[in-house]
Amino acid sequence: MTDGSHGLSARINEVREQAIEELKSVSDGETLRDWERKWIGPKGEITSMLRSLGSLAKEDRPAAGRDAQALRSKLEAAFTPVQELIERQQMERRLAEESIDVTLPGRRPDIGAAHPISAMIDELIEIFAHLGFQAVFGPEVETGRYNFDLLNIPADHPARDVWDTIIIDDPAAEIVMRTHTSPMQARTMERLDPPIRVIVPGRSYRYEAQDASHEWMFTQLEGLAVDTNITMTDLKGVLQELARQLFGPERRVRLRCDFFPFVEPGVDFAVDCAICNGKGCRVCKHSGWLEMGGAGMVHPNVLRGVGYDPEKYTGFAFGLGFERLVMMKYGVDDIRAFNGNDLRFLKKFATVTI
Ligand code: DAH
Repeated sequence: MTDGSHGLSARINEVREQAIEELKSVSDGETLRDWERKWIGPKGEITSMLRSLGSLAKEDRPAAGRDAQALRSKLEAAFTPVQELIERQQMERRLAEESIDVTLPGRRPDIGAAHPISAMIDELIEIFAHLGFQAVFGPEVETGRYNFDLLNIPADHPARDVWDTIIIDDPAAEIVMRTHTSPMQARTMERLDPPIRVIVPGRSYRYEAQDASHEWMFTQLEGLAVDTNITMTDLKGVLQELARQLFGPERRVRLRCDFFPFVEPGVDFAVDCAICNGKGCRVCKHSGWLEMGGAGMVHPNVLRGVGYDPEKYTGFAFGLGFERLVMMKYGVDDIRAFNGNDLRFLKKFATVTI
């Protein structure tokens, strides 16, 4: 036996004693893992011992190797029961902590409900389906072409200022948040041939100072019918039916002259107040009428713009604001409530208890 091999066997004894001693004080998973890493892990003491065998004289290597391996087996054998014990303790602790008290009362889950605006959209889609109108949806990011040009609002037209446009790209590119749902008039006509009967529910955006009756994001409903022989009577009939379906069979509709570049003639339309039966009250501001939106006969330039012959086809269009409608129907006095995220407000509209 050489000196080198003496050194190693002394080291083996030392490691054995120290490792066994340390194992006795291991009390949890973490210290056990540290112990494993230090002594029998791939970068542990035994491994480095085996690596150092190369520095021994050739004849001493087999015996020293065997001793080191025997030590590893011994330490592993000592390790296993400690590991099992710690795992069992951990499991017992978890079982104790996670036990379920089945006698506790249950927690009621929160059930969601449609937002009042969404519910109104569904209601209107239903009403218009009975009148033969199909619902279509369009992009909320629009180009100036659809939002203005094809609606007979040319670049230099003063009416263009009326729509306080939120421009989302450099002004020259004219990429805008749509200021109304009317752009879907041209988009629909470009894609379909008459007869056309569509409604367009959706969000619109305007750069607007907020107050009780103005929001920068709001919801509109556009309507469009194009066919041969469509007249203003058809428009009034549809609006009348809408008012009755929404506010009851007694309701009457009023049309008054108004200007919108994409209709000729243009009107604003109102419904007589359902609360006071048109006599005048707080809700209708003592006028007896509630303003609902704009409408009119589709302007020949709009028809021409999408390649329709205005001599052959006529049509009507209308647009109304949803928030106004819901406010009228339920007596809400501040438009900001709709997006204010106050559950107390939203819960009032829920058809299920939430
Ligand atoms: N787009 C108009 C607005 O937002 C509303 C409107 C008026 C729509 C008349 C129409 C219409 O289709 O014929 O102010």
